Amino acid sequence: MHHVLVNERLSPNVTRLVIDAQRIAEIRQPGQFVIVHLGPGAERIPLTIADGDREAGTISLVIQAIGKSTADLVEVPVGGTIADVAGPLGRPTELPDHGRVLCVGGGVGTAVILPIAQELKHRGVAVTSIIGGRSREWVILEPDLRACGEVITCTDDGSYGRPGFVTEALKDALAEGGIDEVFAVGPVPMMRAVANLTRPLGVKTTVSLNPIMVDGTGMCGGCRVTINGAIKYACVDGPEFDGHAVDFAELVDRLSTYRPFEQFALERRGACSTTAEDAAAVAAAVAAATTPAGAAR
Ligand code: NAD
Ligand code: FES
Repeated sequence: MHHVLVNERLSPNVTRLVIDAQRIAEIRQPGQFVIVHLGPGAERIPLTIADGDREAGTISLVIQAIGKSTADLVEVPVGGTIADVAGPLGRPTELPDHGRVLCVGGGVGTAVILPIAQELKHRGVAVTSIIGGRSREWVILEPDLRACGEVITCTDDGSYGRPGFVTEALKDALAEGGIDEVFAVGPVPMMRAVANLTRPLGVKTTVSLNPIMVDGTGMCGGCRVTINGAIKYACVDGPEFDGHAVDFAELVDRLSTYRPFEQFALERRGACSTTAEDAAAVAAAVAAATTPAGAAR
């Protein structure tokens, strides 16, 4: 059992949980994740370790409540418990020891950027973070990243910081030159756009992928991605990969496979019995997901 010590809302649908997890706090490295299982009957949710305190034996998880399982998780109050937290999983981020690095975080992906920026600062690398949200209240972790270096904040609607997507600010930063490496985490279209900007300049670009995961140990195949034409499993080979080598179109396709099921589960969240109407809705979701246009791959 892991106790929730802090439950803090960071944006309209993003929450930070600080939980006790002594062993994970001692050995975790930037880029690694855990798989959280709230209790009997709950789904297993992969979450990047956003921060940690070795002395206190705690880790921070930043969760976007977009489905039933994540909505249930963010409702665990301070003092409540999470049954299992497995990890740290995945390969740690390969970080440089010198030079100038841009860390680009879109929305909740900013939480994955934070431990990378912290470790880069610790190594003496010059870090500029470019972070973005739909509007002011969707920008997260700005003060934490300011502790690591310069921060350029962007909002889609211009309500805070620079107006426009993070990629607009990235374009200008790349044009200034002197950038050795870019780390980018956020929505898939954002990571693809970042890779498209850095590829012609030959700037090394690392992205963190978020395919559907089940076991987190390389056995189920759920997190399959294609990198440079070769099959990789994000849970054991990643989750970070060379952004210039990722098949983003396949990732988008695979991420959409279970969307109707997730929507159904969210809508029926809290229901304790399955009715004939529920069964019909599930059948409709299956049909929608397996028609040629949305067929599972
Ligand atoms: P969002 O849709 O609100 O977008 C956040 C920001 O990303 C925007 O403000 C904009 O600056 C940028 N952006 C969005 N679309 C873009 C585009 N087409 N081109 C350039 N920039 C673009 O983000 P959200 O709702 O917070 O979702 C974040 C996403 O990050 C989720 O899809 C989640 O699955 C993903 N994620 C990934 C990881 C990972 O490890 N890879 C971890 C957590 C979350
Ligand atoms: Fe099962 Fe990666 S989550 S192989």
